Amino acid sequence: MTPIQETILNKKTTNTPIWLMRQAGRYLPEFRKIRELNPDFVSLCLNETLSSEITLQPLKRFSLDAAIIFSDILMVPHGLNQKVKFEKNFGPLLGELNIEQMSKIDEIDFVQKLYPIYKSLKKVSENSLIKDKNLIGFVGAPWTLLVYMINKHSPKKKLIKDFFKDVFLINRLLAIIEKFLKLHITHQIKNGATVIQIFDSWAGLLEEKDLPNYVYIPTLNLVNYIKSLNIPVICFPRGIKNYKSYCDIVKPDAINIDYDVDPINVYKSINIPIQGGLNPKVLLTDTENLKKETAKYLNIFKDHPYIFNLGHGVLPETNPNMVDYLVKMVKDY
Ligand code: CP3
Repeated sequence: MTPIQETILNKKTTNTPIWLMRQAGRYLPEFRKIRELNPDFVSLCLNETLSSEITLQPLKRFSLDAAIIFSDILMVPHGLNQKVKFEKNFGPLLGELNIEQMSKIDEIDFVQKLYPIYKSLKKVSENSLIKDKNLIGFVGAPWTLLVYMINKHSPKKKLIKDFFKDVFLINRLLAIIEKFLKLHITHQIKNGATVIQIFDSWAGLLEEKDLPNYVYIPTLNLVNYIKSLNIPVICFPRGIKNYKSYCDIVKPDAINIDYDVDPINVYKSINIPIQGGLNPKVLLTDTENLKKETAKYLNIFKDHPYIFNLGHGVLPETNPNMVDYLVKMVKDY
């Protein structure tokens, strides 16, 4: 078993494994070099030679316990023929949503469009660098994809006023999203993903009363599906206030916490394996502070199954030496 499987499945509490969200990204000069020559982000995600190389870049530098496939949660709307562009200094921008056309999309066409992602997973899974480690596949949660597909760009702090205006459209879209996410998950697993993480980056935008319909039920359907395939599933409902209720209802194999969550509170109330928490901004400070903040999480979770990670992705301004320091510290703890 890999260290991550030991933690998630056997509830082991020693030798804390570590991987980082956005561990392959702009803070690495070797990534920026490829990125500069490939200005179109979607095409880069669909280039299996480059995307598999990028996925492995952080493993060449650091003793991480997992690779996460270099792709994006918005590759699913792309596969559903909604235009997806990434504008410099703005983030993602999506095109018109045509629900009539989308409801007619064939599963074979979707898989064909995203095929390079699956080939990339296959390539990474066959590389010796991933031996005895996990290859993490991922999807955006139905709610977060719904937000992007309707809002067309990142919502920042709140939803547009008439977001829920057309409930019929929302429900049709949710059904399509769920169907194709299952397909996307299946193909990632078939091609070598050994863990699936579900990113619900905009879960925190919802009021408590809307969580069952838009977060709990659609995510539970995916979690149960992934469990039926015998693959561990980690959920990251960023920004929600009540992680305990989420865990009780959705029952993922592990839960990633964000940096606004009080780790002591979570330690006391949640009994499933926990991942993450450290504020990525700590990596922008100095080694003294990094040491202190890292020790805080390691100490709180010393007798709880814990996978070290951040409370959100590595920031582009991060010095790779700080990541190196962090990984070594967790390994030597
Ligand atoms: O290393 C990894 O974590 C794997 C790859 C990965 C990317 N995106 C690559 C990426 C993963 C797991 C994601 C998930 C993702 N994408 C999420 C969920 C996690 C989160 O951040 O909340 C979301 C909301 C997206 C959508 C998205 N993609 C946004 C909002 C942006 C722009 C902001 C940014 O960080 O640049 C992206 C672009 C993106 N996805 C980049 C990378 C490496 C940057 C692209 C670049 O090089 O310019």
